[in-house]
This record gives sequence, C-alpha cells and structure tokens, in this order.
Amino acid sequence: MQERIDALRQEAASFTITNAETLEAYRLQFMSKKSVLNELFEEFKAIAGDQKRLYGQPLNQLKQFIEARFHEQKEVLENVQQDGGSELDLTLPPQPMVLGSRHPISIIRQEIVGFFERLGFNISEGHEIVDDWHNFGALNFEEDHPARDMQDTFFVQSNPDILLRTHTSTVQVKEMQLGNLPIRTISPGRVYRNETVSARSHMQFHQIEGLYIDTHVSFADLRQTLYLFARHLFGEDVRIRFRPSYFPFTEPSAEMDVSCFICGGEGCNICKQTGWVEILGCGMVDPNVLENCGIDPKKYSGYAFGLGLERMAMLKYQIKDIRLFYENDLRFLKQFGSVPPTR
Ligand code: DAH
Repeated sequence: MQERIDALRQEAASFTITNAETLEAYRLQFMSKKSVLNELFEEFKAIAGDQKRLYGQPLNQLKQFIEARFHEQKEVLENVQQDGGSELDLTLPPQPMVLGSRHPISIIRQEIVGFFERLGFNISEGHEIVDDWHNFGALNFEEDHPARDMQDTFFVQSNPDILLRTHTSTVQVKEMQLGNLPIRTISPGRVYRNETVSARSHMQFHQIEGLYIDTHVSFADLRQTLYLFARHLFGEDVRIRFRPSYFPFTEPSAEMDVSCFICGGEGCNICKQTGWVEILGCGMVDPNVLENCGIDPKKYSGYAFGLGLERMAMLKYQIKDIRLFYENDLRFLKQFGSVPPTR
C-alpha cells in the first residue's frame, strides 16, 4: 500500500495544471469518488486493525497534499484572470516590441556627424553651462558686442559670468586649449538663446560646429570640404556659393548657400525665389582666437563652420514650425525614420 500512496503522490505532484480545464481534470482524477485516492480509502477500511495504524497517517497526508495543490493552483489561475491576463502560457513567443521612430533632429545630426567622421573628424562635446570667456571672450567678441546683451543670452542669476552657451563655437575654445594638434573635430550640441518662442525661433536648439587646425590650412580646404558635405546632403548636382559675412571669431568670414534642392535653382517658396538657400556660417579661424587659446598663429591656421540642425531639418523635411520638434506629438514624430519592430 505504501508504494501506491507514494506513486499517487508523485502523479498528483507532476500533473500539469495551466487552465480551468486541466484544473478540473486534476480534480476528477485525484479527488472524485472514482479516484485512486478514494479506492485506497475503501481498501483502508477493510484492512486489519494493526495495519490501519501503519497506513492511516500517510493516507491522510496524501489526501491533504492533493487538496492543497488543487486550492493553490485554483488561486493562481484566479489571480491571473484578475490581472486581466488570459491563461498564462509561458511557452508562447513574446509580443514583438515596437520601438519608436528616430527624432528628425537625431537623423540629421547622425547624417552630418557620420559624414565628417568618415573624413577623419572626431566628435567632441563641451558643456552647456560655460563662462563668458569660453562663449564670448576667447572667440574675439568685443566687451560691448550686441550678442552679449541680456536679450540674447541666459545668464546664471547669481553669477553673470556664467551662462548657457549660445553657440557650439564654445567647444572650439575647449578643444584648442587642450592643444592636441592637429585638431579635426565636429561638435554637435544644444544651445540656448533668450528669444521669444515662435514658429521660426526657439530659446533652445541644436548646432553642429566643425573645426580644423593644422599647418597650412587654407580657405580652399574649407571650400572643398564643405562642397563634399553639400553633395553628401543634397546630391551630386548641388552647387555652392560663398557670401562675405562677419563673425568675430573668423577672418575672413562667409555664409554658404546651396542651390535650392527643391526647385534646382529656378525659384520657389523655400528659396524665396532666389534659387539659393543659406545653410551655414564659416571662415578662417581669426589669429586672435588661436592666440587666446594658446596656439601659435604664425605656425598654425584653421577653418571653422557652424550650422543649425533645426534649420537643416526644417529645410529637408519642409517643416514650417520649429516648435513641433519639442512637443513630442507622435503624429509628427512617427513620420520620420521609423525603426523596424524587433523580437
Ligand atoms: N556660431 C555661429 C552662430 O551661432 C555659427 C558659426 C559661424 C560658427 C561661423 C562657426 C563659424 O564656426 O566659423 O551663429
């Protein structure tokens, strides 16, 4: 008898219960009138008195075990249902995980940074909170330059020498001070300006800065690099032109236009009928700036350029309102470079 008690216990313990049906099957097999357990109790009644003492306790323990397992599994199934889950089947493959799409600013940043990396530029990042010298002073901004005006810059209230960087050109200063020459670096990052938020301007946006310092760097190098860059972004047929401009930290300074990638130069709304679209500012690093940052301008020269990522994304995707980039509206975000679902 003991052997049969042990066998039945084994059988009940290994019976798989995953849902209401298998729970009921368990009940019928182990707890009903027709169950082996019941048979054992019937037999038990018939055996001699001294044998009863031997089997009574194990038999009762078996009954308790079988019933306890039933109640325990019943509770598990009820909890699963309360959780809103269907019956739990751990063998099913997982639901595919739908990842979001990449933000248009990230797409543009990666496209630009990736291009310059392939040309041998490294990536550098500075701090978003910097002192006046790194954002302005070292970059040759005169003390009374209008860009230092409270209108444009967020200063830290307790210390007006500390501010939120207004451009990524500040990373140039850090890189030049580090002095690992030659420098060929590309610096993407967020910048801040004290501007009224509107469809065309925001008080935070993103820029990418490029800097190349070596012996014998010329404007021809700048032009050729930016021409390759424009072809990469806008296609083989793009034309570029440079217009003289002014930035305190470059001499000479220029703004670069590309032939309009919408109308091909014919004239349209995007290029305001001019056939040209401005995409960046650039120039040869001013010798004063090299000197301010501890580099000998007699030995070294360099070029720099900077562009706004929101502007590039707005041109490329024809987005009319800069505020859309920061509102996280899925209807907007889902339209760009979706990431395929993964398992
Ligand atoms: N820092 C300039 C801005 O925020 C952009 C710029 C212009 C960067 C010319 C440069 C440059 O490096 O050479 O408008």
